[in-house]
Amino acid sequence: MVETHNSPEKPWNMNLNTLETDHTYAQPSGLTMRAVQYDQYGDADVLHVGDRSVPHRQPGQLMIQVFASSVNPVDYRLRRGDMKGLIPFGFPRVPGYDVAGIVVDTDSGSSFMVGDRVMAFLDHTRGGALADYAVCAVSAAAKIPDSMSMQEAAAIPLAGTTALQSLRDHGKIKSGQTVLVNGASGGVGMFAVQIAKSYGCHVDAVASGRNREFCLSLGADHFYDYEKEDFLKSNERWDLIFDVAGKAHYLEACKVLKEGGHFVSTEPSIKGLLMTILTWPLSKSGQIMLATPSADDLRELIRLHEIGKLKVTIDSSFPLEQAAQAHRRIEAGVDHGKVVLNHAHSKDALSSKTP
Ligand SMILES: NC(=O)c1ccc[n+]([C@@H]2O[C@H](COP(=O)([O-])OP(=O)(O)OC[C@H]3O[C@@H](n4cnc5c(N)ncnc54)[C@H](OP(=O)(O)O)[C@@H]3O)[C@@H](O)[C@H]2O)c1
Repeated sequence: MVETHNSPEKPWNMNLNTLETDHTYAQPSGLTMRAVQYDQYGDADVLHVGDRSVPHRQPGQLMIQVFASSVNPVDYRLRRGDMKGLIPFGFPRVPGYDVAGIVVDTDSGSSFMVGDRVMAFLDHTRGGALADYAVCAVSAAAKIPDSMSMQEAAAIPLAGTTALQSLRDHGKIKSGQTVLVNGASGGVGMFAVQIAKSYGCHVDAVASGRNREFCLSLGADHFYDYEKEDFLKSNERWDLIFDVAGKAHYLEACKVLKEGGHFVSTEPSIKGLLMTILTWPLSKSGQIMLATPSADDLRELIRLHEIGKLKVTIDSSFPLEQAAQAHRRIEAGVDHGKVVLNHAHSKDALSSKTP
């Protein structure tokens, strides 16, 4: 089905990554590939591995051999049918938005070369990360440095972009502000705490008590255990409240927001849309955000990682074939950090640097 290349004379095999010297990559030579897919809505049991057509690369896109991917809450929400009608193209559907891998096909003259190590945030409507190959717009991918493993790279795109866009674009974060991250220990929250710290903010983190030390290790200045203490009843006041967990309400949050402050939620709802429309002229705004793939933002996240300001914590990793277990893990609630899938052909590349 696939043709394997591992010839040392190919420049992209020579020094792809000092940590992944014995690298193997494969271009699709047939019409089908291995993919995790589902043909109906339901619990994680509907996920199965099967053959599927290799996606067609359009001009302006990259084809990536996927070495690692990650799972986000939106994946199980879509699989369960919570967002029926919002996603076109019907069944079968290949889940997943985050990929890390190797470019195996691109336009001539593109800013990417065959053999580049990349991460990408796949198109909202199609997904398709849990497969041997994925295609994405050049504007949704970024080269990853030698210092970053494929697992780390796969953990970043959707969750990291959500955190960055929420704080910077919606929350208008500024140095010296007070920021509260509600849901600080999960995929989005762990990036949000670190990004807010990188802006020079005072950061308060909210999670369950078992994640106190983890949140403080991310750089949080203060911790609220949501099972014991309600930050909405606190005497503190914040410039920015980022409700990652989608558990707070704008009207309540307003009571603990400073004048000119911003409340940003990740939870899509009709109420949230109304909040976004009605509160934008007010001194305390409330916004729902929807993360948008952006190569610039991926590059910014990579930059923060390279200067040591954005560490990636992997909660757990599973082989691609155990995608259903990975979905169950995130659906039940992770300990902290991201759930990652290792694609089998990535064994060589992952062996030398597994977090
Ligand atoms: N709009 C968008 O574009 C967008 C993008 C990405 C994610 N999201 C949404 O954002 C949410 C978080 O995503 P994620 O990847 O970070 O999920 P996750 O990894 O499952 O993390 C969930 C976080 O919420 C915390 N939490 C659970 N119950 C809470 C409560 N009652 N109060 C405060 N915190 C609570 C958890 O802490 P403990 O584990 O300690 O309980 C954990 O820190 C999901 O609903 C997801 O769908 C939206």
